[in-house]
Amino acid sequence: MGTDQILKKNKHDQKKLSVTHPFHYIFQEQRFVCFLIGIGIAFVVFNVVPSLDSPSSPKGLISTFDESVRVHRRKAYELDAGFSHQNAGGKIPLGLKRKGLRILVTGGAGFVGSHLVDRLIARGDSVIVVDNFFTGSKENLLHHFGDPKFELIRHDVVEPILLEVDQIYHLACPASPTNVMGTLNMLGLAKRIGARFLLTSTSEVYGDPLQHPQVETYWGNVNPIGVRSCYDEGKRTAETLTMDYHRGLNLEVRIARIFNTYGPRMCIDDGRVVSNFVAQALRKKPLTVYGDGKQTRSFQYVSDLVEGLMRLMEGDHIGPFNLGNPGEFTMLELAKVVQDTIDPNAQIEFRPNTEDDPHKRKPDISKAKRLLGWQPNVSLKEGLPLMVNDFRQRIFGDESDHTSASSE
Ligand SMILES: NC(=O)c1ccc[n+]([C@@H]2O[C@H](COP(=O)([O-])OP(=O)(O)OC[C@H]3O[C@@H](n4cnc5c(N)ncnc54)[C@H](O)[C@@H]3O)[C@@H](O)[C@H]2O)c1
Repeated sequence: MGTDQILKKNKHDQKKLSVTHPFHYIFQEQRFVCFLIGIGIAFVVFNVVPSLDSPSSPKGLISTFDESVRVHRRKAYELDAGFSHQNAGGKIPLGLKRKGLRILVTGGAGFVGSHLVDRLIARGDSVIVVDNFFTGSKENLLHHFGDPKFELIRHDVVEPILLEVDQIYHLACPASPTNVMGTLNMLGLAKRIGARFLLTSTSEVYGDPLQHPQVETYWGNVNPIGVRSCYDEGKRTAETLTMDYHRGLNLEVRIARIFNTYGPRMCIDDGRVVSNFVAQALRKKPLTVYGDGKQTRSFQYVSDLVEGLMRLMEGDHIGPFNLGNPGEFTMLELAKVVQDTIDPNAQIEFRPNTEDDPHKRKPDISKAKRLLGWQPNVSLKEGLPLMVNDFRQRIFGDESDHTSASSE
């Protein structure tokens, strides 16, 4: 019998054997081992990957692959950054644990935004700041220039922009005019790329409150046509849009209602009461108190706010959450703290009150305490000197630099 014939016969015999003895065929040549390995791979693909998915992910808006990559990165971050108590259920594939997130901060060159950027960069995230420098400034971010994890884009959020990120902190908003268009654009971006969206709303949504302290369930008492309405109603509309994007399009959203915040890098002349008093006292001018000075406010140090914003973004709860310091001060009490800190001889000058000025403002933060494990830690007496140092440097910076240079 020739070689060809022998090979043909062997093949024929094998075929016959596989048909007549299937079990024999399966156990030959380690086929069974390969079969088990196949089952193992399928198990990993269909069980481990879905277990990382978030129940509130916006399905259908983006591809499943992109979504699972995003969720892996977020979960990995949560474990890494110590937020794991809220989302510790998922299994993290090796190699993803240490990766940071890509985060967009609109208004990141401003007072609160720049402090938030510092924290995000410090924990290893890549941050893109979008700002038109309307009230913010590059100086607030100068220390990040040259860091490959940091990008700054001059852009007005009233115009659409396309970026690929995991989370959006939306802070851009001029201190008074409304910014509905900016919020709409950022919600549109978040929807398009499947990012989680956090709106920095304000205690102004409560208007001149008839309930004290203010809880998140209170709907507020806002004059829709007053001089302050542009800001108040703008933020109320922004909250409405945010919730509609969540309900209608399944977007992951978070809402923070921020109460008066102070600290270094605050705009010196933006008319907010703490910055007014501090700048006036440093410049040896009288502290201007509007009305009888008995209206109350609460003052939160900026690092406490940033901690609250980050916990909100990483947590499982939409909000809205009041983020503020419940310590309540009348304007006259605040003026006294400023006098004690800067100049005990600073004079107080009374002026007629502004229209629609709220009489009382104090956050009820039980919800944030319970669900975010957050509460402010820095008292006004501790925080104010830190802000005063920064203001002193910025107001007299050139002068003192000059003085120290000439005395050397
Ligand atoms: N600081 C507070 O006490 C306080 C209280 C309540 C709410 N908030 C909210 O927190 C956020 C940050 O406030 P802040 O105190 O840091 O104010 P800020 O003015 O210092 O910062 C706002 C930033 O947004 C930028 N910006 C404004 N309009 C823009 C636009 N159209 N496009 C791009 N960038 C734009 C500004 O240049 C600035 O850098 C705001 O949304 C504000 O409404 C702040």
